[in-house]
Amino acid sequence: MKTKIVTFCLLFFSASIVLGQGGVKKKRPLPHEYGQVVMDIYSTGAGMAPVIFDHWLHRAQFTCRLCHVDLGFSMKANTTGVTAADNMKGYYCGACHNGKMSHNNRTVFESCSKDLTVDQKRCDRCHSQDRYAKKDYDFYTYTEKFPKERFGNGIDWEKAESDGVIKLVDYLDWVSIKRRPLPMLKDFSIHPKVRGMPDIVFSHKKHTAWNGCELCHPDIFPSVKVGSRPYSMVEIFEGKFCGTCHTSVSFPLTDCQRCHTKLAQ
Ligand code: HEC
Ligand code: HEC
Ligand code: HEC
Ligand code: HEC
Ligand code: HEC
Ligand code: HEC
Repeated sequence: MKTKIVTFCLLFFSASIVLGQGGVKKKRPLPHEYGQVVMDIYSTGAGMAPVIFDHWLHRAQFTCRLCHVDLGFSMKANTTGVTAADNMKGYYCGACHNGKMSHNNRTVFESCSKDLTVDQKRCDRCHSQDRYAKKDYDFYTYTEKFPKERFGNGIDWEKAESDGVIKLVDYLDWVSIKRRPLPMLKDFSIHPKVRGMPDIVFSHKKHTAWNGCELCHPDIFPSVKVGSRPYSMVEIFEGKFCGTCHTSVSFPLTDCQRCHTKLAQ
């Protein structure tokens, strides 16, 4: 037992070095900043402030799948190429931010307009970098009663969903295609290639609630055969495989024990 813990610590140490060398390590974001994306392919060029998109507020209401599969947002910051015209036609942000959709008894405010002077306050809610516009939702008030965790947003999102503290919308009449109920698959263990390293327990059931199947298969995990394409912790640290989500939006990789849960026999 003791040697296992020592090995684990040594590996943690080497992992920290990998994190440093890979250039992945940044200043650790504050809980409300974790999962924030600054979108600025066109805004600055068009005389608008860059757009700040917060995952915490949106993921507390909608599934990852809805936005990243049905609405087609890319899972890499600043690569989708959303334009004001797209939003006005009802794509991307405009699928919800259309001034018509009703959600939790509120009308979701409209997104872009051709007229840059029409409703400055509204523009500022999204085109908010360095605008210090007052937001309707404050992270700390909004998440006050959510179950807590140590890293990332400081929230146990998994528990928040399973306890029913948040209820996720996975379907919008006007964009989503009706799908059959998802099949339920068994959990499985992944055995790391290093002796003494605790096994990782991967739960299809828990992941599917947020991600459906299409977010992982075939793009992130092309094969569905466990272990058929071996990947390493280094690749995960580089933002591939599990790291696609667990570096920027889901709980971060610093939380080793949340994945390496099962002590190997
Ligand atoms: C309301 C829509 C919406 C929801 C819900 C949503 N996302 Fe996103 N996500 C976005 C947008 C918009 C971007 C930025 C895309 C861009 O800049 O091109 C993004 C970017 C990302 C990125 C890239 C971040 C980076 O820094 O490179 C990841 C990873 C991601 N999302 C994962 C998730 C996961 C996991 C969930 C569910 C827990 C989720 N998203 C829920 C809209 C959403
Ligand atoms: C799936 C639906 C959906 C999509 C897509 C979506 N949002 Fe939202 N967003 C909401 C809802 C619902 C709210 C809460 C609105 C309210 O209650 O006033 C919200 C709130 C916001 C707020 C909160 C402002 C405040 O005052 O606290 C911002 C900013 C925002 N969204 C930006 C964006 C941006 C930028 C995009 C596209 C990159 C986007 N959203 C895509 C549903 C969506
Ligand atoms: C719900 C969020 C949201 C709101 C509200 C919003 N925008 Fe946008 N807007 C975006 C996003 C996202 C982009 C693309 C960001 C990028 O990559 O530069 C964008 C881009 C733009 C662009 C860049 C040029 C182009 O053709 O794409 C202009 C101009 C623009 N918006 C005008 C406005 C104006 C004017 C308002 C207020 C009336 C407004 N927007 C309100 C989300 C929003
Ligand atoms: C968060 C990512 C993720 C999601 C979401 C996901 N999978 Fe998987 N799936 C995996 C991984 C990882 C493996 C193992 C393959 C590997 O290691 O390359 C796997 C393996 C499988 C396998 C073979 C293993 C077995 O138990 O027989 C099947 C079949 C499968 N997935 C189907 C699905 C279906 C159907 C859904 C939706 C209900 C789904 N997956 C959702 C990540 C995911
Ligand atoms: C498509 C995005 C995505 C990918 C890829 C992904 N996850 Fe997750 N994972 C999530 C989301 C969303 C949650 C909910 C909790 C959160 O966001 O912090 C989660 C939760 C978890 C949890 C806690 C729930 C539980 O099962 O007890 C574990 C452990 C986990 N992931 C491990 C993994 C492992 C291991 C891999 C790679 C084989 C992986 N994840 C790949 C999105 C992803
Ligand atoms: C999101 C889940 C997740 C988190 C968090 C995580 N790991 Fe892993 N780790 C994995 C998976 C999956 C593998 C298995 C890769 C394989 O062998 O197929 C792995 C494998 C490893 C291995 C075996 C060598 C290798 O490259 O495969 C080591 C060592 C390791 N992890 C260390 C760590 C340390 C240290 C941390 C914390 C800093 C950590 N891991 C956090 C999922 C995770």
